Amino acid sequence: MTSPDTPIRRLRSQDWFDNPDHADLTALYLERFMNYGTTPEELRSGKPIIGIAQSGSDLTPCNRHHLDLAKRVRDGIRDAGGIPIEFPTHPLFENCKRPTAALDRNLAYLGLVELLFGYPFDGVVLTTGCDKTTPSAIMAAATVDLPAIVLSGGPMLDGWHEGKLVGSGTVIWQSRRRLAAGEISRDEFLETALDSAPSIGHCNTMGTASTMNAIAEALGMSLTGCAAIPAPYRARGQIAYRTGQRAVELVMQDIRPSDILTRAAFLNAIRVNSAIGGSTNAQPHLMAMARHAGVELTSDDWQAYGYDIPLLANVQPSGAYLGERFHRAGGVPAIMWELLQAGHLDGSCPTVTGQTMDENLKGRESTDREVIKPFAQPMMERAGFLVLSGNLFDVAIMKTSAISDDFRARYLSEPGRENTFEGTAFVFEGSEDYHARINDPALDIDASSILVIRGAGPLGWPGSAEVTNMQPPDRLIQAGIRSLPTIGDGRQSGTADSPSILNAAPESAAGGGLAWLRTGDRIRIDLNEGQCNMLVDEAEIAKRKAAGLPETRPSATPWQRLYRETATQLDEGATIRGADDFQRISRTLPRH
Ligand code: FES
Ligand code: MG
Repeated sequence: MTSPDTPIRRLRSQDWFDNPDHADLTALYLERFMNYGTTPEELRSGKPIIGIAQSGSDLTPCNRHHLDLAKRVRDGIRDAGGIPIEFPTHPLFENCKRPTAALDRNLAYLGLVELLFGYPFDGVVLTTGCDKTTPSAIMAAATVDLPAIVLSGGPMLDGWHEGKLVGSGTVIWQSRRRLAAGEISRDEFLETALDSAPSIGHCNTMGTASTMNAIAEALGMSLTGCAAIPAPYRARGQIAYRTGQRAVELVMQDIRPSDILTRAAFLNAIRVNSAIGGSTNAQPHLMAMARHAGVELTSDDWQAYGYDIPLLANVQPSGAYLGERFHRAGGVPAIMWELLQAGHLDGSCPTVTGQTMDENLKGRESTDREVIKPFAQPMMERAGFLVLSGNLFDVAIMKTSAISDDFRARYLSEPGRENTFEGTAFVFEGSEDYHARINDPALDIDASSILVIRGAGPLGWPGSAEVTNMQPPDRLIQAGIRSLPTIGDGRQSGTADSPSILNAAPESAAGGGLAWLRTGDRIRIDLNEGQCNMLVDEAEIAKRKAAGLPETRPSATPWQRLYRETATQLDEGATIRGADDFQRISRTLPRH
């Protein structure tokens, strides 16, 4: 699509820089931008001012190379007739922020909303990478509704250790089990982990980072093929340049997130998440983006639109390969091409390219069938999330692709009903309690136990922790039992491969059914009926309720308290309650 030479409407930034009614204020708005060499002519030229929301810093190593990529974004913006202004966003480093980076997603969202609304921007390039950097940016873009485009940073190069592929996160979970089984030393554990991170970029597995960037592309918010290009490849710098150019054109054509973030686009994203074997964190993040976009999306949509979609990407943790090979096989467009041919994608969705999704996907069939499977010969049928409910929670999800045959054999409750499981609950109050007690010989955990963790949801933790993927006691691992089913009101890492029922809502700290469970209770899981229940009668549950909720830690910082006062549950995206009343706010200008 060609772009007009002049914008469709008067630019928002002109209210700051070229406003005849406020000549005195204009001087004030302009003068300090001059002190690094910008000229008044530039800012008053009527060219769009394009923000570069810079998520990279030493504190977000996964996104740090955006500091360099931004130079190419600036070139693209300038060449297309815009003016770049780069600014920092709140850092979100998944692995390091305590108690969890999830606590800060809404803080980063709030910060970005204020910046985009309160400063003279006409459009914005959202630089994304590490897990929460993508949803927080899209949530803010949806609220403000300025023309916006996502530039993913891309995954690290593939990691190798002793001739084998080692993927970020996934290798940690695997090495933990090998350490517990006495197969490797602590030094080997560390070396393997370090080898999984060989270059700049975000996690190279299909963890939450790769998933969320794939989802940004599936939603139509980034250029075609953007998500999977490895961070150090030359193509990454080239797409940074094109993204900068395209940001200016979006302003000229007045294409906004509200044109792109439709219900159809969100349903496409759910389907893509199944086909790539995406992270369970996609559930709350996609819900949060939908809420801020004003799009109706429910927990049931995950099962209705996503469950039947097969797994097509042979990428860890559900498959064998890593980001580089996935990119060379065609990346997200090749996955979407399969879905489109099979009639499981809405190709009419508009995108930031100015074209519809099916136009973007022309000629994008995979060239590597070892890594991206044809829809008719997938890695696995029905690879989406199951949505469960019962007396332990109203909503929880399960990534059924992680259920092993061994698990099925151990937990079958009734012969012939192959998806009904039963086991005895062992309840932990958060991860400290789990780590302190899991190897206690007095705890009678065996191969038919179910590990339960609570106090790990948005209010309990606070922020909601990635702790549901609990490892069995060392003695069971040494005996060959490498995983037990787990249930929790927390999340789990997108790189984990545990058969978990997670993201339970309402959480224990909000009075959800998990709060009333006791160690020794029997739990029945019926995947046919989507049910998960403690086999405890109503009278007994009522008695336990009288004892009150399990204790949670007090808030340690002001934001923790504010977060707890405002956060919704995971099934609603753990958004800020009421923040979704604010939509398309850039259509009104802030006061002077
Ligand atoms: Fe940042 Fe995985 S820790 S992308
Ligand atoms: Mg994570």
